[in-house]
Amino acid sequence: MSRAVASPSVVNIEDLRREARRRLPRAVFDYIDGGAEREVTLRENCRVFDSVAFRPRSAVAAPTCDLRTTVLGMPLPLPFLLAPVGSSRLFYPRGEEVAARAAGSAGTVYILSTLSGCLLEDVRHASSGPVWYQLYLLGGRDVAMATMERARTAGYSALVLTIDTPVAGFRERDVRNGVKELVAGKLWPMLPFVPQFLARPRWLAGYLADGGLMSFANIVLPGEGPMLYGDIGAALEQSTVTWEDLHWIRDAWPGPIVIKGVHTGDDARRAVDAGANAIVVSNHGGRQLDGVQPTLRVLPEVLDAVDGQVEVLLDGGIRRGSDIAKALCLGARAVLIGRAYAYGLGAAGGAGVARAIEILQSDLVRTLKLLGCPSAAELNRSYLDVPAAWPVGCSQSSV
Ligand code: GLV
Repeated sequence: MSRAVASPSVVNIEDLRREARRRLPRAVFDYIDGGAEREVTLRENCRVFDSVAFRPRSAVAAPTCDLRTTVLGMPLPLPFLLAPVGSSRLFYPRGEEVAARAAGSAGTVYILSTLSGCLLEDVRHASSGPVWYQLYLLGGRDVAMATMERARTAGYSALVLTIDTPVAGFRERDVRNGVKELVAGKLWPMLPFVPQFLARPRWLAGYLADGGLMSFANIVLPGEGPMLYGDIGAALEQSTVTWEDLHWIRDAWPGPIVIKGVHTGDDARRAVDAGANAIVVSNHGGRQLDGVQPTLRVLPEVLDAVDGQVEVLLDGGIRRGSDIAKALCLGARAVLIGRAYAYGLGAAGGAGVARAIEILQSDLVRTLKLLGCPSAAELNRSYLDVPAAWPVGCSQSSV
C-alpha cells in the first residue's frame, strides 16, 4: 500500500482528504472538495449526522458483524457503493478503472459517471464486482441510446439516471481556480493557473503520462468522436432530463433503473410512477442547488412517500461508518460514497480507494458492536434518537 495512505497518520477520511490536498493541484482538489455557492448544503450534509444520536444496547455480544445487504436483488458484502464521480481521471491516471478495481476487490458496486475519461468497457474489465452506469443525456437521445447499448453489452447491471442537473451548479471555487479556462485548453487564458500544476510535480507527471487533457470516452458524437472536455454546464443545459425521458429510457434499458437526485416525497412518488426500481436521495453532494435540505433529513419523507415500493438509497456527507449506520437505521437500504473515496483516489490511486473502503468498513463493524447489533440488516430506528420534528419514515420493505 502506498506510504501516503498506509501511514499511521491516516486513520479517517479527513486524513485522506488532507493527503489528497497534498498531492493534487488546487483546482483538482477543489473540484472534488467544493460545492455550490455558499456550500451550505455541502456542510449540512455532513453536519446533519450529528443531529441524530445513537441508543446502544449494552452488554450484548456481537462477535461477528454481518455487513451484507441486497440492492436491486444483488447481494453485496457491504452496505455502501461507490457513487458516480465525474472526471476521476484528473485525480489519478486511469482513475475510473483504478477506483472500479478497488470497489470490485471489496465486492461492492462501482457506478461509472457519464463524465468519465476511461472507456466503459475498460472500467467493466477492471472490476471483479458489479458495475452500474450513470447516465446524462449529453449529446442527445441517440448518443445516450448508443451508450446504453454499449453498457448493457459490456455487463453493466443497472442504470442510474441523475435528475438534478438541468444546469451545472455554480461552484465558485472552480470559477476562481480557472477550471473553465483550463478545460478549454487555450494557452493564453490558462497561463495564470499554470503555477498550481507545477507545484504538484508528482500529479503532473502522472497526468501527462496518462495522456493529459482528455475527452469523455463514452459520449461519442456522430461524425465527431468522443466529446471533448469543455463547458459541461452548457452541455448539461442542452440535455436536461425530464420525467418524459423516463419513458424511452425505460424502453431502451432492460435492467433496473435507479433515479438519483430526489429531494422530496413528491419527486420520489413520481420516480416510482415512472418505473424506477430504486431511488437515491441525493443533492449531488451539495454541488447543485445550494440551500436544499441535507439528505439524511429528507430520507424519512421519501421513505414515507414510496411506502416500500422501491429501494431507497442515500448519498451526501458520509465520512464515517457511523454515518452509514445512522442512514441504515433511518431506513436507507445502502448508501453511496463519493468524496470519501475520491479523496483516497486523489491521495494515492487504488491504494487510497481501498483504504477509504477499509476505514468505512471497520468503522461500521465497530459501530455495530458498540450498538449491540449483530448485523447491518437489523439496524432500525430504535437504535437512534431522532429530533421530534422529523417524520417517522416507513422502514424499507423487502423489495
Ligand atoms: C458532475 O456531475 C459533478 O458534480 O461534477
